[in-house]
Amino acid sequence: MEEDGFTLVTNKKRKLKKAKFIPHKGYSPHDLAAGFSKEELKASVEKCYQELMNSPFIQEIDLIVDKLKELNPKSIVCYALGKIDNLYCQAPKYQLAMLLHIKYRLKIEKALVFDPVLTEVELNAIQGFKIERILVNEEGRRLVEERTLFIIFHGEKFLFENLINTNRFCKQNIIILGNDLKHVLENQLSAGINSVQILNSFYRETIFDSCVLQWF
Ligand SMILES: C[S@@+](CC[C@H](N)C(=O)[O-])C[C@H]1O[C@@H](n2cnc3c(N)ncnc32)[C@H](O)[C@@H]1O
Repeated sequence: MEEDGFTLVTNKKRKLKKAKFIPHKGYSPHDLAAGFSKEELKASVEKCYQELMNSPFIQEIDLIVDKLKELNPKSIVCYALGKIDNLYCQAPKYQLAMLLHIKYRLKIEKALVFDPVLTEVELNAIQGFKIERILVNEEGRRLVEERTLFIIFHGEKFLFENLINTNRFCKQNIIILGNDLKHVLENQLSAGINSVQILNSFYRETIFDSCVLQWF
């Protein structure tokens, strides 16, 4: 058993290594890293991407894509992605797959990601999709000078508060895809916000349970 509580078991017939998790005292769900390689993580995100593309839910996502074409963001920032190397939570991989779809469809060159839980291997895998890493924890305080799409699924309240407060004099530059801000923020911060909510028809119900596109 490795120090982190995992025993890696390789099955030669399968492409990906199967990891058997043996919980150690005091583990939290965020510790459940499987220890996959960069290539394995990339392949696993690609699999989620294909699954998303072939699901009926893609029609709902494309409603968001159509609206985004009108809003015309020049770059994408993703906060609160979560771990893509996680045995028990698949959400971040599907959320990353959605980001990739939006990036490709809108032909957006610049995409950035930050989540403090991402390891070097996970970040390398993400960079393989031409998504850059943000080097410092800005806690959502990113001042944007051009229209930017922020993808934040199930992000903590402070991320949204800091983002909107930092851009309070240029709110029209921020577009947010993720939690319904009317449920997260005080009225004052979400005042004047426009939104399109998409029907969550994805079979993994909790991944996109709160999927609202919002802009000022
Ligand atoms: C509830 S999890 C959501 C993970 C995933 N998006 C999901 O839907 O399962 C919230 C995430 O926010 C991340 N987070 C915490 N502080 C952050 C920060 N300053 N910037 C970006 N992400 C942050 C956490 O590490 C965690 O992965």
